[in-house]
Amino acid sequence: MGRQTAGSAAAAVDERRLWEHHLELARIGATPRGGVNRQALTPEDAQARRVFIGWGEKLGLQPGMDEIGNLFLRLPGTDTQAPPVLTGSHLDTQPSGGRFDGIYGVLAGLEALEAIAESGIKTRRPLEVAVWTNEEGCRFAPGCMGSRVFAAPAQLARMLAVTDLDGVTVAEALALVRRALPDVPARPLGFPAAAYVEAHIEQGPELEATSTTIGVVTGIQGRRRFRIEVHGENAHAGTMPRRRRRDALSAAVAMVGGLERLMDDPADVVRFTVGRFVVSPNAPSVVPGHVLFTIDFRHPDATALTRLGDQVEAVCRAHAGPCSVVVTEVALTTPIAFQGLVPDTIRAVTERLGFPYMPILSGAGHDAENVFAVCPTGMIFVPCRGGVSHNEREYAEPADLAAGARVLAEVVVQITNG
Ligand code: HGY
Ligand code: MN
Ligand code: MN
Repeated sequence: MGRQTAGSAAAAVDERRLWEHHLELARIGATPRGGVNRQALTPEDAQARRVFIGWGEKLGLQPGMDEIGNLFLRLPGTDTQAPPVLTGSHLDTQPSGGRFDGIYGVLAGLEALEAIAESGIKTRRPLEVAVWTNEEGCRFAPGCMGSRVFAAPAQLARMLAVTDLDGVTVAEALALVRRALPDVPARPLGFPAAAYVEAHIEQGPELEATSTTIGVVTGIQGRRRFRIEVHGENAHAGTMPRRRRRDALSAAVAMVGGLERLMDDPADVVRFTVGRFVVSPNAPSVVPGHVLFTIDFRHPDATALTRLGDQVEAVCRAHAGPCSVVVTEVALTTPIAFQGLVPDTIRAVTERLGFPYMPILSGAGHDAENVFAVCPTGMIFVPCRGGVSHNEREYAEPADLAAGARVLAEVVVQITNG
């Protein structure tokens, strides 16, 4: 890459354009409290994809969508046969999500490609921005579904059959999205890539607390997700004596107490969350006969992940009392470390651009954990206010978002033309 291009892609990144794109997408699924509810494969998800495709087509990016709904916008390279350099993230959100989680990585990818095109740099490899289907996993479990199937196409049928709480399958929801995007050509499921670079807000407090602009992500901690169903029996609240009750709520609460004791960690490294707790029939005068709850357990150390996660079922059974319990492990991802080409390039480019940076482990899961199996992978973090995320108050500074996009643009150019 000649001297005239070193830094020209970064310089062409437009902070205002990037910020405006965030504000426009935030209107799709906007919540009254300033957040976004744009869950996977909903009409809002389809609408955001439509807008994003429109921005890409203005740049000459060619859209394509694979069988699990992953969307790719492609900037052709001089070597059309070369495996592309990928960037991107996700556009789906949590029910009370923020305006930046995932969305930033998709828009930073678009901004990087726009800046590369504007600076006149010709890349040997094609460049593609990916919008991975269902990263959040709140409507359909597990999360990171699109990138999981991209890396392991054999899982397609099983993932298409997953249902949401209303019994709608991924396949049915995906069909609605396809109907909203009839002109988007099909892409084969899974293809070789030269590298994957994902930009994301940190979703934690470290970068802001140390006034650091760029996080060079060293890896992602492991996580295990469980679905616990407690079966008891509905009964009259006024007549059924306690000794004869099969109270699913009482048993589930005892289970959560036992699990919290199991997961208790004075060093505060364990991340244990019961995020969903559904009581049926959820009526004041009925002893609950059924409870569904979820466990999200994370740890950076594979041994601890195994040691503690393997005890979940026994703890639930030990506290079931007169009820029965079904424990299903929904997903398990082992801790991964980003090494070599991508993190090294992120570090070198960040140094050259002069941004303060630090190595940082990701506590949150990302699509990069799956693409990691396909090609050299790495992530760029930027700060978010107070480390708040999965929350409508999520916020990031325009200048930090642009800094991450500048690093991304240069990293992508360096990898594709290196
Ligand atoms: O849960 C996660 O770590 C991701 O934000 N979906
Ligand atoms: Mn995310
Ligand atoms: Mn998230």
